[in-house]
Amino acid sequence: MTRADTSVEIHDLIAERRSPRSLDGSAEISKEDLLGILEAARWAPSANNLQPWRLIAGERDDSNFTSLLECLVPFNQSWSKRAAAFIAIAGTPTQADGTVIPTFMYDCGLAAAQLTIEAHHRGYVIHQMAGFDHEKAKELLTFLGLKDRYNCCKYYI
Ligand SMILES: Cc1cc2nc3c(=O)[nH]c(=O)nc-3n(C[C@H](O)[C@H](O)[C@H](O)COP(=O)(O)O)c2cc1C
Repeated sequence: MTRADTSVEIHDLIAERRSPRSLDGSAEISKEDLLGILEAARWAPSANNLQPWRLIAGERDDSNFTSLLECLVPFNQSWSKRAAAFIAIAGTPTQADGTVIPTFMYDCGLAAAQLTIEAHHRGYVIHQMAGFDHEKAKELLTFLGLKDRYNCCKYYI
């Protein structure tokens, strides 16, 4: 793995992380690893500990995976269809009573960063994707009962 060229030594998990698109379509992810990756996101810090995110996971060929794949723009579909799993993060800009959460994107980004590092630690590649069809993603969130407050921010594999 190519190491980032840094002025001082940084942790291997950060220096060696990359986002390749050449995925092995036969590689699988274990339930324990997928759960570990989701837990890493769940335990991220957030302003007032509001945790303004929901994570939607799908494993290759299950219905969540297929729905998430269909939401992606064609270029992202073309290479990410070989992923073992998709994880989508949906963030909410408001609390249940309508109070604005000004930091929600920052909070979601922290959850995404933790998820990325945990996955890399477990030997997986994570490739973030913001290239998806927002209307289709809204339909999926409606189906999952999350539409009222949550917006799909991005996908991860
Ligand atoms: C918010 C975000 C959205 C991204 N969206 C896409 C995407 O839609 N498709 C894609 O192929 N890569 C996407 N990427 C991956 C970036 O292109 C990649 O992280 C960047 O080129 C740096 O490469 P590295 O992750 O290997 O260091 C996205 C990355 C981020 C952080």
